[in-house]
Amino acid sequence: MTTTHASSAASIAAPSQPDWALQLTGVTKRFSQGDVSVIALHRVDLTVARGEFVAVMGASGSGKSTLLHVIAGLTRADEGQVIVDGQSLRDLSVPQLTRFRRRRIGLVFQAFNLIPSLSAEDNIRLPLLADRRLRDAAGRIDPLMDRLGIAQRRRHRPDALSGGEQQRVAIARALGTNPSLVLADEPTGNLDSTTGQSICRLLKEISAEQQRTIVMVTHDPAVAAWAERIVVLRDGRVVGQIHTADVADPVELAARCQALANKPAAEVRA
Ligand SMILES: Nc1ncnc2c1ncn2[C@@H]1O[C@H](COP(=O)(O)OP(=O)(O)O)[C@@H](O)[C@H]1O
Ligand SMILES: [Mg+2]
Repeated sequence: MTTTHASSAASIAAPSQPDWALQLTGVTKRFSQGDVSVIALHRVDLTVARGEFVAVMGASGSGKSTLLHVIAGLTRADEGQVIVDGQSLRDLSVPQLTRFRRRRIGLVFQAFNLIPSLSAEDNIRLPLLADRRLRDAAGRIDPLMDRLGIAQRRRHRPDALSGGEQQRVAIARALGTNPSLVLADEPTGNLDSTTGQSICRLLKEISAEQQRTIVMVTHDPAVAAWAERIVVLRDGRVVGQIHTADVADPVELAARCQALANKPAAEVRA
């Protein structure tokens, strides 16, 4: 892959500051529902190093999806800074943001979001066709399908694929543009737990093999456990984080995640 050259060049030039894939400072996002205002994100600070695999955990409604949308530039933050790959998103116009997202960010969703009338291969090629500058990247598709174990399924349409295969196609589609950042929102949410675990293993391997930055949202501690670091949200606030290498016992890890995610708000603010 072409990233070999990029990473060796990067290791020669000593970086003067950490090589952040993502920097969020003081990010606040409000939604109004009628005359009620909901604070979906409250002064969120978060940095993710290049190549890191981070899980964002929290109960339903804690702001996980909003956080991913703000990082992807699908939603603008009301306050604060979002810097992806050194680029401040607020400095980009809407068309610039669309181009930036297409080239730098890969998105993976719970419901796979494949186009039903297209084969697996055409679904994967679609983002490349949408961007003239990416068309020469078509040679990446075959190795990617091999890597994700879906080469035998390339001619199948999504309705002829299992859930796990559909998610593998969606991950291949996300990786096809060679994004620096992959954002996955509950990628195992529609899968049985064994298939979900195999998708998690795949994400972890891809992050390690390709030095790809991955931010994965989940409400399931067994899924979050695959990441190097778990950031826990509650009521739109970051209430703690856990480095998974520090907690060997999966049951203890799950208990710590749940304790953070379910802490009473008063205790969190104290
Ligand atoms: N488009 C929207 N309009 C109004 N409220 C929203 C919108 N998106 C999210 N919210 C609210 O923001 C909060 C966080 O939502 P979300 O980020 O979807 O949480 P999670 O993904 O953790 O379940 C919730 O209270 C939700 O109802
Ligand atoms: Mg969500």
